[in-house]
Amino acid sequence: MAQLWGGRFTGETDRLAYQFNASINFDKRLFHQDIEGSIAHVTMLAKQGILTEDEKESIIQGLQGILGDVDHGRLEIDEVCEDIHSFVETHLIERIGEAGKKLHTGRSRNDQVALDMRLYTRQQVQETDALLKELLGVILAVMEENVETYMPGFTHLQKAQPITLAHHYGAYFEMFRRDRQRMEDIYKRMNYCPLGAGALAGTTYPLDREYTASLMGFAGATQNSMDSVSDRDYLIEFLSALSTIMMHLSRFSEEIIIWNSNEYQFVEIDDAYSTGSSIMPQKKNPDIAELVRGKTGRVYGALMSLLTTMKGIPLAYNKDIQEDKEVAFDAMDTVKHCLVLFTGMLRTMKFKKERMAASAMNGFTNATDAADYLVGKGVPFRDAHAIIGRLVLYCIEKETSIDKLSLEELKEISDKFEADIYEAVSLETCVAKRLTIGGPGPEAMKEVIQQYKVYLNN
Ligand code: ARG
Repeated sequence: MAQLWGGRFTGETDRLAYQFNASINFDKRLFHQDIEGSIAHVTMLAKQGILTEDEKESIIQGLQGILGDVDHGRLEIDEVCEDIHSFVETHLIERIGEAGKKLHTGRSRNDQVALDMRLYTRQQVQETDALLKELLGVILAVMEENVETYMPGFTHLQKAQPITLAHHYGAYFEMFRRDRQRMEDIYKRMNYCPLGAGALAGTTYPLDREYTASLMGFAGATQNSMDSVSDRDYLIEFLSALSTIMMHLSRFSEEIIIWNSNEYQFVEIDDAYSTGSSIMPQKKNPDIAELVRGKTGRVYGALMSLLTTMKGIPLAYNKDIQEDKEVAFDAMDTVKHCLVLFTGMLRTMKFKKERMAASAMNGFTNATDAADYLVGKGVPFRDAHAIIGRLVLYCIEKETSIDKLSLEELKEISDKFEADIYEAVSLETCVAKRLTIGGPGPEAMKEVIQQYKVYLNN
């Protein structure tokens, strides 16, 4: 056991209590952030005349030595120390002696960990954003090639109206673009530095908090020291945004699993992203999509866990807050892994375009257009709806489709039908005429794709 706070104690900490309290086995992830924060802190202390230049130099050298040794495997972050802050400080004092004991001047582990976690999360926000951008690039590439790849659009998982693959993927482009906007938004709101808040009530040293903040690329210093050490809102916002990303990935996965099924056969997932069965030789399973769908649960869990941890915490710091880390780290890792794998799966997935078009042709996806055709011939929409309803029933009985009926059969149901009906209910026409903003018509789609390209190039 190595502790920073023995002075006031006469008894030993119970071994289990010590282990229960210790956080080193997970907060060692914050090693780089801890060093970065300490270097900024002593740089500011020296500027303010609280440390001498020599002390500052010696501390920074010591910290960089520890950093290099850990990064190159010469020093292991073992679990002798209680947490990563103790680890760094203990090793610093061991290396440079007296000056090392001044590192913690005007600082508490409460504002220190608040800073470390913010630095770490800020980096994760950026990495997640970069992965989202890559995914959007793959989605856009598929869109560009499939402006005229027809497929059924569904409501209630029942065929509804024909759309294109570009249009379907475009819906996901919108979702993941919003996810990126959330990253930007969180970044802006969280980018304030809590260091200098002390344990809860600031400090009597003349710290220059704005300067410390600027050294680490923050937009400024946080404005209330009690809030600074106990705020984890930014982490909750991030976990919420991560949950939304997973919700989007999970919906997309669900569709891919359906499309990949024997019944649909719209797509074929590449061998690299499928697995077989130990007993059934014919199997090629969409495991990656299923795992992404499954892992959504643990990310939602992290969000619920932190919301619940935070709800009962009186100001300011309480040890409960240490529970932010394991769940948050797990969620951050999970989402990044899912984004990487999902993007790879999407990049290599093949479409069976003929089957998709054939599926769009049956199932009466052109029934609305047939009704609209009658409206064009002067029939009120409500009557047209009823006429086409009867027509559909007739087709079901005959096991055929609207476009395969003869003009005589059509005229028996309504004399308004003319030879131009066939063109009006063809797949191409049904889609091409849907040109309102956001619609699947190829001309409308091409404009949207152009906008997306500009967006991704910025
Ligand atoms: N391990 C702690 C955490 O993660 C660091 C802060 C400790 N502060 C304290 N007063 N014990 O929150």
